[in-house]
Parts: sequence; structure tokens; C-alpha cells
Amino acid sequence: MKKTILALTALCAAIALHAQASFDIELKKVGAPIQPTMYGIFFEDINFAADGGLYAELVKNRSFEFPYALQGWKAFGRVEIREDGPFDRCPHYARLMDPGHGAKQTGLDNEGFFGIGVEAGKDYNFSVWARVPEGGEGSIRVELVNTSSNGENQFFAQEQVSISGREWKKYTAVLKPGVTDPKATLRIFLDGKRSTVDLEHVSLMPGDAIAGIYRRDLAQALADLHPGIFRFPGGCIVEGTDLDTRYNWKNSVGPVENRPLNENRWEYTFPYRFFPDYFQSYGLGFYEFFLLSEMIGSEPLPILSCGLACQFQNDDPSAHVPVDELQPYIQDALDLIEFANGNIDTKWGALRAEMGHPEPFNLKFMGIGNEQWGKTFPEHLAPFVEALKREHPEIKLVGSAGPYPEGEDFDYLWPEMKRLGADLVDEHYYRPEEWFLSQGARYDSYDRKGPKVFAGEFACHGTGRKYNHFHASLLEAALMTGIERNADIVHMATYAPLFAHVEGWQWRPDLIWYDNLRSMRTASWYVQQLYGLYKGENVLKLTMGGVPVTGAEGQNGLFASAVKDGGCIYVKVANTSESAQSLSFNFTGLKKKDPGVKALKRIVFTSDRLYEDNTLDEPEAFKPVEEAFSGEGQTVGAVVPAMSFNVFVFEKE
Ligand code: AHR
Repeated sequence: MKKTILALTALCAAIALHAQASFDIELKKVGAPIQPTMYGIFFEDINFAADGGLYAELVKNRSFEFPYALQGWKAFGRVEIREDGPFDRCPHYARLMDPGHGAKQTGLDNEGFFGIGVEAGKDYNFSVWARVPEGGEGSIRVELVNTSSNGENQFFAQEQVSISGREWKKYTAVLKPGVTDPKATLRIFLDGKRSTVDLEHVSLMPGDAIAGIYRRDLAQALADLHPGIFRFPGGCIVEGTDLDTRYNWKNSVGPVENRPLNENRWEYTFPYRFFPDYFQSYGLGFYEFFLLSEMIGSEPLPILSCGLACQFQNDDPSAHVPVDELQPYIQDALDLIEFANGNIDTKWGALRAEMGHPEPFNLKFMGIGNEQWGKTFPEHLAPFVEALKREHPEIKLVGSAGPYPEGEDFDYLWPEMKRLGADLVDEHYYRPEEWFLSQGARYDSYDRKGPKVFAGEFACHGTGRKYNHFHASLLEAALMTGIERNADIVHMATYAPLFAHVEGWQWRPDLIWYDNLRSMRTASWYVQQLYGLYKGENVLKLTMGGVPVTGAEGQNGLFASAVKDGGCIYVKVANTSESAQSLSFNFTGLKKKDPGVKALKRIVFTSDRLYEDNTLDEPEAFKPVEEAFSGEGQTVGAVVPAMSFNVFVFEKE
């Protein structure tokens, strides 16, 4: 009891520091509609986000296509890598031969991605393409092993797979581990009579992978954000360090066994976070991205190469396609529309149908180029816009404002995007605290007649604190009130990057972290979720003393916005100050006798551990809480804690 009184006294003292802030919320006139695409997600294969992350495959280098064919594998006995396999774009395979003596063994161990995570009692679907090259019968034994175990057996799941005949065929088995192991090894022995056996595309998928593709907990974390837009596959990965290594969507579709390997530039971008075994298998390709968009209810937004390799990494002129040689790249863009939306009697529509989705994916948006800059970008973009607008005027095109949210390139590119007729312009901001605090009114003065804004990559990178922490998420929430207030011009916003494996990251902060068996949603994730859940349908005008609440001088670190959603009103308030603040919400534009609103609930996200976040061991240490909130009439009062993000929910009576 004593503690409560002390706490209350402290709270009152804090409140006393600031006079009551009075917000006017206009109810008579609703403002701009909020686009269904407003809040979304941006996926890039960075931090082991695809292989080793969202793509549920547990075997690394499953097709022996890495530059060192046995990277990720340990071979024992007589193993040979050959390259005349059944899949022309992935020609390598492993030949397992009799080691020559009954006691000796031939086989392969796969280390997975930082180990293979398996859980007791669950099914793991093993599959392999195999043959007995000399004909007749052969056999392999497949095991999950823990080589550091002190138990009698190293293996804790085991299955025999019989192989027969000279023809390549797909074989399957289900492994059922009796124990949980986050770092198991997949072991394959040449078994039985030890006839030579050839193995290709060795796969192990958790039986609970969503659609047999996506790691369940990670896909769920995306769905729970209620994203309206899904940008993929990058990021710099779209561009490539050189043109040959750009993301080529055509290599990422069709049977997974025949998708050629690509390098991953995040393997080597930061030598202090170097991952020599980081490649792109394209198991998560454009079909899987479209499918996921559909499953989580967001609009797909693919980004394609504009013929410029990454300008940060490669300024060699040969890294850029001459403008008059762009036709194949433009054709890639046109073909992608056919793949997503075309009839099943078209070449690419037929492939989509063959892959399992005869219905169109209903693609509406496409981005050309990622973070390109300089005169060369509009020069490259122009022929794409011309061709795409001519052939597919229904597709909205996203251009780019370059890598930074202000400065020479930004100032040059915005008018250029307008001149070319881009429908949206992608802005990126990875910036420190002061910058986020200064951007509450960023969009208030944007040209209303130009392209719309897509805040395509953003995250608060704290000064000296370039890692996930609560305070950064609060400042993201604060800035986003300005995004919401300007919904007439801002049509999309996506935090970046999305995923990171705790043992394989290159870039922080990120929205969702995981190891092989567990995952964790960060404070920033919860902020994005609150915006996704309480998106609303129309903006409502919210002012304090006649001006928007943007953290401006004299506004005590307050940022606020309001939206209407049917009969409900959501008011978002970020208090970035160190004091609790007392607020009054005045609902205006109502007749004197109008009963006003009824407070339904509030969601409060706050913490005094400003520089910490959730961890895999404590995944819910930082989480918004729903609180009772009462009051009715034309004016309702509330107190917002210091350093808090709040969503107030009212019902119009
Ligand atoms: O999100 C990581 C990188 O940041 C993206 O690949 C790039 O677009 C930006 O520079």
C-alpha cells in the first residue's frame, strides 16, 4: 500500500511538471482515406532471413551447388561430387560408394544452418532424389544425430530408405525425433549391400511448415502484424554486386530442384560479420512470396532490377546496362506481370498454374530499382515506365528517392520521379534519435500533386545503440503519427529489415529475431502491430492549440494522430518526454446536445528499461498492455506515462 501511495505521489509530481495538453479532434468532417496498404512488411534475404529463416528447409547446400560443393557437409568414406545430374540448372550431386571394408562407412553429415533444430514428437519430412547408377537395389540410412551426446547412440531418429534402379526418382521418409535438439546433424549412411548410390537435392522439412514452405512461428509473426503490403525480395539484394548476381526472379520459380544458386551479397558486405556459407537457394522464390502475400492478406510489391548493380559496391561502368540495352530487363518486368496475373494459357501464367496457383495473384504494384541515385537512375527508369504504363496502366509503379531521406540525391530524385510519372516514391531512413524526433511534421508540406510516398525502409538507429531497444521503437511510433496524419500522401510504410538469426545477423536492428527453434518479436514489432491493428479507415484532424501534434517546440515531446474506423475512433499518442502528461481529448464539430464519445479501452506500451528489448529467453518482457479506460461525453481525460506509446479507443455514441 505504502508503495502504491509513493508511486501515485511520484506520478502526480510528474504530471504537475506539464500543464494539461488539450487535443481537439474534429468529428464533423472526416479526412483522407487510409490506404489498405498503409502498414506492411519488407522482406530481404539478409541476416539469414530466407535459407535458415523463413524458408523452413533445414539442410544447407542441399543440391551441392555451393562453390565448394561440400560446404555445409562433412563427407566420410568414398564420396564423389559429379555434375551430370538430372536438373540442368543445378547439375551437381553426390555419389556414395562402397568404402571397401565392412567396418568402414561412407556417407555425409549436414550441419544445417547453425545446426538443425528439431523438436521431440514432431515429424520431419526427409526427401532426396536418388538412383543406383549401376542398376539394381541400393539403400541409405538417414539419421538425426547429436555428435556431442554422451548417450549410447549418437542418433535419436533413424530411417532406412531403399533406392532402386538407374532412373532418378524422389524418395521420402519421415523422421520422428524423441528428443529436442536445437543443433542436430543430419547423417546419411550408405547402407545395405552398399551398392553405389547417387544423391541429389537432399531435403529435411519440419512437418508443421506452413504450406510445406514457411517456418511456422516466423510466418505467424508476419500474419500477426496484419500487413497491408509486402515488399520483396529486397533491398540491395535486388541489385546485386554485379549484374550477374542481381535477384533474377525467373531463376526463382519452377521446381525447387532446378532453381540455380545465387550468391548472397550479405555474405561479405561487412567483413566484421562475415558468413562464407551464406547463399540464396531461391527455395523462397517469387511464387512463394506471392503465395505468402495472399496467405497473410497483403498486396504483393515485387522490386525488380533497373539494370544498375549496387552503386555502393560497384561503380564500374560495366556494372550498369546501357540504356539502349535494357530490353531484357524490361521484358522481365512485363513477364512478371504475366506470371502473377496472366491467363493460364500464357507462357508465364501457365507456369504459375503448374506450380499450383491457376488463379491470378492480382498484382497491383511493382517497384523498379532499389536505392539507385544520380542521373543514371531516371535514365534507366524512363524506358521501364514507358513500357509498363503502355502495356499495363493498371500497375502502380514505385520509383526511388535514393538511399537517404534528404540531401542532394533525394532533392534531385523526387522531382525526377514526378516528371517520369512514378506513382509512388520509396524513401529510406535509418536515422538516429534526434532525426526521428524532428520528423513529426515531415510529410505535412509534401507536394499533394506529385507521386505518393512509400516509406519503404525505416528504423531508428540509436546513436551508439544500433540494436533493438524500446526507446527506438517509441521514436518510430512517434514518427508514424506523422505518416498516419498524412495518409492522403503516404500510402505505404514498412520497417526494415524484417528478420535476423541470432547467430547469423549482419544488420541491426531488425523486427523479428530467432534461433533454430525459438523466435522473438521486438518492441518495434509491437509498434508496427499496433499500427496494423488500429489502422482505421479515415484520418481525423487532431490539433493542439490549432496545430498538429508533431513533437514541435512547446509540445513537450508529444506526437499524436487520430483515425476513424466505422463507429470507432483510435487516437495514437507517443509521449517521448521523461514525464507523464495529462491529456484532454476534446471531440469537436458536435452539436451541443450530442452525447459525444464513449471510451472503450486503451493500449499502453511503456517501459523504464529504455535501452533493452525482448530476448529469446524473455520474449514478452516488452509488450503493450490493454487497460480499462472510461469516460464519456465531448471531452475525455487521460494520463500518458513518460516514454510511452498509447492507443485510445473510443466509440461514437
Ligand atoms: O535493409 C538493409 C539494406 O538497407 C537494404 O538492402 C538497402 O535497401 C538499405 O540500404
